[in-house]
Amino acid sequence: MKDQAQRIADGLDRPVVMTGLMGAGKTKIGGLLAKALGFPFIDSDHEIEASAGMTIADIFEQYGEQAFRDLEKKIVLRLLNGDRCVIATGGGAVTNPDIAEAIADNAISVWLDADLDVLVERTGRNEKRPLLNSGNPHEILSALLDKRKTAYARADIHIKTDHAEPDVTLQKMLNALESYMTTQKETS
Ligand code: S3P
Repeated sequence: MKDQAQRIADGLDRPVVMTGLMGAGKTKIGGLLAKALGFPFIDSDHEIEASAGMTIADIFEQYGEQAFRDLEKKIVLRLLNGDRCVIATGGGAVTNPDIAEAIADNAISVWLDADLDVLVERTGRNEKRPLLNSGNPHEILSALLDKRKTAYARADIHIKTDHAEPDVTLQKMLNALESYMTTQKETS
C-alpha cells in the first residue's frame, strides 16, 4: 500500500475532495487517505467553525442555513486553491453550483457513499448535524439523497463503503485513484 500511495502522491497535482451524505465517512476516510499520501487533511466544516468561532449547530440556530451555506461557499472555494491536500466537504457543499464547478475544475473528487441504514446508524452517534434534528433521520437522509444524487454523481470517483473497515475502504480508494489517474494520463 505504501508504494502505491507514494506513486499516487507523486502523480497528483491537485487536491482530492471527499463528497457525499452525512455519515458517509468523509472525515474518517479522508484523514486516512491524507496520511497515506503524506498530504495535509482539511475538514471544511472545521474550517467553517474556526472562522465563525462557533459550532455548525449554533450557526444554523442563530443565523440560519443560508448564512451557513454562504460561509461554506467562501471557505470551500478558498481551500480549492491548488495546494495538494485532501479536503472533506460537508454533505451539502456540492449542491452549490459554484462549489461544484470549482471542484470539477480544480480537484479530483470522490463520492463516498453508503446504504441509508449505515448513514443513519453512523449519524445517530452524535447530535452535531442540525439538518437531522427535525424529524426522522432515515426519511431526511433519503430525501437529501434524492435531491443531491445528481450533484454527487458528478464526482470523478464513486466509492461505496457500507460496513467495510476503514482500511478496506482506504485500499479501495487508492486503487480507484490510481486507475482514474492512469486513465486521465492515457487520454490527455
Ligand atoms: C450538511 C452536512 C454536514 C454539515 C452541515 C450540513 C449537509 O457535514 O456541513 O451540518 O447539508 O449535508 P457532514 O456531511 O460532514 O456531516
